[in-house]
Amino acid sequence: MTDVFEIARRDLEENGFLDMEVDPTLDLFEEIEKLKREKNAVILAHYYQEGDIQDIADYVGDSLGLSQQAADTDADMIVFAGVHFMAETAKILSPDKKVVLPDLKAGCSLADSCPAPLFRLFKEKYPDHVVVSYVNTTAEMKTLTDICCTSTNAVHIINSIPKDQPIIFAPDINLGKYLVKKTGRDMVLWNGSCMVHEIFSAEKITKLQMRYPEAKLIAHPECEPVILDKADFIGSTSGLLRYTRTSDATTFIVATEPGIIHQMEKASPDKVFIPAPPNNQCACNECPHMKRNTLEKLYLSMKYELPEITLPEHVIRDARRSIDRMLEVSARAGLV
Ligand code: 13P
Ligand code: SF4
Repeated sequence: MTDVFEIARRDLEENGFLDMEVDPTLDLFEEIEKLKREKNAVILAHYYQEGDIQDIADYVGDSLGLSQQAADTDADMIVFAGVHFMAETAKILSPDKKVVLPDLKAGCSLADSCPAPLFRLFKEKYPDHVVVSYVNTTAEMKTLTDICCTSTNAVHIINSIPKDQPIIFAPDINLGKYLVKKTGRDMVLWNGSCMVHEIFSAEKITKLQMRYPEAKLIAHPECEPVILDKADFIGSTSGLLRYTRTSDATTFIVATEPGIIHQMEKASPDKVFIPAPPNNQCACNECPHMKRNTLEKLYLSMKYELPEITLPEHVIRDARRSIDRMLEVSARAGLV
């Protein structure tokens, strides 16, 4: 007879997500802490996760910080509270560790906008170009990449490449255009984008700026140029957080996924953070992929050690080169 545990495992494996009821009387914070100790697990969470997940995590950070943590941890299990490509990156950097993602369906529209088979054909048209890819790509895309980057280190990565070396930049066209402007390099750009960052409304932001003339507009470089041109500060999630902490301003219009506001409010409780409105009827602009993870799914993923991220050995080997190069350049530049 198949036991309940086995059925649960199979359900997780087949459906890629946890559809199980969690006893509502459980104190999940306590249970998760217990599981962390029992299993020598570490919880790594991106700034776009819900507040409860950020609060229970051992480390909360941006894509670069999370990959540095994944490379360095001595935990036996990495519980990745983020999206699929981030958990894959953790597996590539720590292939001997068990990596679980609370919801296997937590994908990324930006990673989806650059399928590896299509990119392979695109790349063939530019045989003398090196490929710089944003980490928001699948593991297979990383095997076609010479060096990865994140929004924190992208300028350093581009500048580390000899000036006469032509470059393809993938997949985010908005970050690509921003980097062309910032570095003066004329790169070939793949036409991908993030569904969260491309949907901010310039018109609604202008109205907000008129209502709060003292507010600083801060934006992630995945936003469209029309938003970036208006921004007082452009930076990665950790860059935006640092700016709000150190700036004399007290009001900020935040043009990135609003999960980051949890840390901004914790760091600067007296300041005001207004999520930039999107170009639709919603009031905020949450990433539906990031928000698939919940505290309940996090608890279940730790308890059953599923859904687990696995990758073929050759993918790990070939993808790792491009991530290692990125981490080396970042370490040389002192970026954390
Ligand atoms: P960073 O974490 O590099 O700021 O990127 C934001 C993002 O879109 C992650 O999905
Ligand atoms: Fe992907 Fe955009 Fe969501 Fe980040 S915010 S995970 S880039 S869809």
